[in-house]
Amino acid sequence: MEVYAVVATAVWAMFPAYIPNNAAVLAGGGRPIDGGRMLGGRRMLGDGKTWRGTAVGWTAGALLALFLNELNGPASDLLGVSLPEFPIPIVVAFPLGAMLGDIGASFLKRRTGRERGAPFPVVDQLDFVAGTLLLGAIASPGWFFETFTAPVLAVVLILTPLLHVLTNGIAYVIGVKDEPW
Ligand code: CTP
Ligand code: MG
Repeated sequence: MEVYAVVATAVWAMFPAYIPNNAAVLAGGGRPIDGGRMLGGRRMLGDGKTWRGTAVGWTAGALLALFLNELNGPASDLLGVSLPEFPIPIVVAFPLGAMLGDIGASFLKRRTGRERGAPFPVVDQLDFVAGTLLLGAIASPGWFFETFTAPVLAVVLILTPLLHVLTNGIAYVIGVKDEPW
């Protein structure tokens, strides 16, 4: 595959995983998932991980995956690349994996003494990718390993932190996020 096709495939395939965390930022609030529970003198997850944010993020990512499936034909023609179509288990697993990866990172942040909103470089940028890839590989291994070839995976790991820094920076500047990470 050409570099261009690899990049197009990587971005298309990860799109449903890029949306959930941003949707959660917009929708967040309400009851925290940990219900205020403590672990070792600190919050288990913290007030930044809510049921509403998680549910809205998951739903937004799944709906986007379904929408991208509708666009698959015309977009593939337009780009001259055979873009991947998301099977239903992936429609469900990718955005859920993104949310769980982010939640797992908050768990780690609290265990390592980081307060809510504290930066955790690399983890902040790649937590949701790890969750997405892990859940995706479990939900539909055939599709997953066919789509995420080594070059596609490499592009995902390079491009995602850049996109993450960019979108969170924008969210901070326009005032919808408290910190730029
Ligand atoms: N959010 C949410 N539910 C989630 C993820 C995010 O409600 N599962 C919302 C919260 O309002 C959160 C905001 O999105 O404050 C920003 O998300 P994030 O940066 O992940 O959370 P932080 O508040 O920075 O907390 P943490 O240190 O635990 O990452
Ligand atoms: Mg944060």
